[in-house]
Amino acid sequence: MLVDSHCHLDFNDFEDDFEDMLQRAKEQGVTAMLNAGNNVGELDKQLKISEKYPFIYTAAGVHPHNAAEYPDIKAEDFVRYSKHKKVVAIGECGLDYYYDYSPKDMQIRVLKEQVKAAQETGLPLIIHNRESDEDMMSVLDEAYKQKPFCGVIHCFSSSRELAEFALSIGFYISASGMITFNKSNDIREVFADVPLDKLLVETDAPYLAPVPVRGRRNESAFVKYTAEKLAQIKNISFEELAEITSNNFYKLFRKASDKGRYEF
Ligand code: NI
Repeated sequence: MLVDSHCHLDFNDFEDDFEDMLQRAKEQGVTAMLNAGNNVGELDKQLKISEKYPFIYTAAGVHPHNAAEYPDIKAEDFVRYSKHKKVVAIGECGLDYYYDYSPKDMQIRVLKEQVKAAQETGLPLIIHNRESDEDMMSVLDEAYKQKPFCGVIHCFSSSRELAEFALSIGFYISASGMITFNKSNDIREVFADVPLDKLLVETDAPYLAPVPVRGRRNESAFVKYTAEKLAQIKNISFEELAEITSNNFYKLFRKASDKGRYEF
């Protein structure tokens, strides 16, 4: 059993071989997937997929890259989107000062609205953070002091300080294919110290395919390579790691039901 806790299955990258891609995931023991949101304009497409496949959950969110497209979006919009039974989280949302596709002030504003939605609904937040550690910690810290919420730092590639802060407010930390890359020693060192009960694994497909399939289109089946690497880092068996991270997934994303697991 493995869960791909973050992927983008509604992207056109999967148009031509969607069913085969699911079959390959099944063959690798993947039992559920969470299709993260990028742009609420695409939410209908995400929902269609989740309505068809019981084991594919989804999330409603606006990625920081797209923040500028939503100058007026409010927390209540995300609250409304999240009423659908297959929407199990708010996000992905966050800050990305590496690409800086949207102005920082807009990224922060749209993030804060999604944090508010998480506070209101009790649904977990899926956080994207890239080279924006300071602002991320200050936004989350300020909001958390007003009203706690839960979530995950997805595709973790930030500082140890950010990981420690996230853990201090009960967040989970998710490992992507980046942990398999040669140059990712810093990231692996952080994961070595993340408690087992706070770990998730993901692909972020179609991006970031892990070694040994690096450079290819990523897909949920490849989450096994990331899980194998993480098991090595944690010095436990692959089976144990798979079970722990899958259980963690259902602990965090409480609205996702075990009943939705793969039954082909
Ligand atoms: Ni993503």
